[in-house]
Amino acid sequence: MIRTHILVVYYSRNGSTAELARHVARGVEAAGADAVVRTVPPVAADFDARADEVPAQGPPYATIDDLRECAGLVIGSPTRFGNMAAPLKYFLEQTSDLWLSGSLVDKPAGVFTSSSSAHGGQESTLLTMALPLVHHGMLWVGVPYTSQTLFSTRTGGGPYGASHVDSDWNPELSADEARVAHELGRRVADIALRLARD
Ligand SMILES: Cc1cc2nc3c(=O)[nH]c(=O)nc-3n(C[C@H](O)[C@H](O)[C@H](O)COP(=O)(O)O)c2cc1C
Repeated sequence: MIRTHILVVYYSRNGSTAELARHVARGVEAAGADAVVRTVPPVAADFDARADEVPAQGPPYATIDDLRECAGLVIGSPTRFGNMAAPLKYFLEQTSDLWLSGSLVDKPAGVFTSSSSAHGGQESTLLTMALPLVHHGMLWVGVPYTSQTLFSTRTGGGPYGASHVDSDWNPELSADEARVAHELGRRVADIALRLARD
């Protein structure tokens, strides 16, 4: 039997977004799909400072083929001035061929972010991260208010996606943040599995 792969691709410099990715991936697996966790290399103003081909630690770098082959996608980035970080945007800007061929059309997709302050632009980051996915014809999956966690959380996690507030640069998620990240992964995988059955 061919397993359903959900690609979880993120950029993280200090570990908070990576921590969210781990919980998203667990949610994917809880739904019965396979989580393929990937990261993206940093970008530098000095393009001679190229990233190594293999990251020193953590998951491998995502490829365009990873995207082409996934049944669903969840992307994560730190909030950078209210927007996604350049490395993830740079990766997405290499997907024109997939856009031309419609390879991602009708695949479910979600978004997650981490910021240092609660009102430092998480929502604008999540909303703008979803836009390229919509351009690709993906089906944007959020977290509905049927999840009681959206009412109890005092830090990250909302209807647009999973998130973490890393007060004092602490990458450890609150229980509610972890639950929302898990739920996001589970929902994206669940919808991908249901679409695959139709
Ligand atoms: C260039 C830059 C811009 C940032 N902009 C914001 C911001 O707009 N709002 C905010 O709350 N935090 C901002 N931060 C803090 C990061 O979003 C936050 O520390 C995040 O949790 C880091 O994620 P990571 O641990 O996955 O790298 C910024 C950090 C950097 C380096």
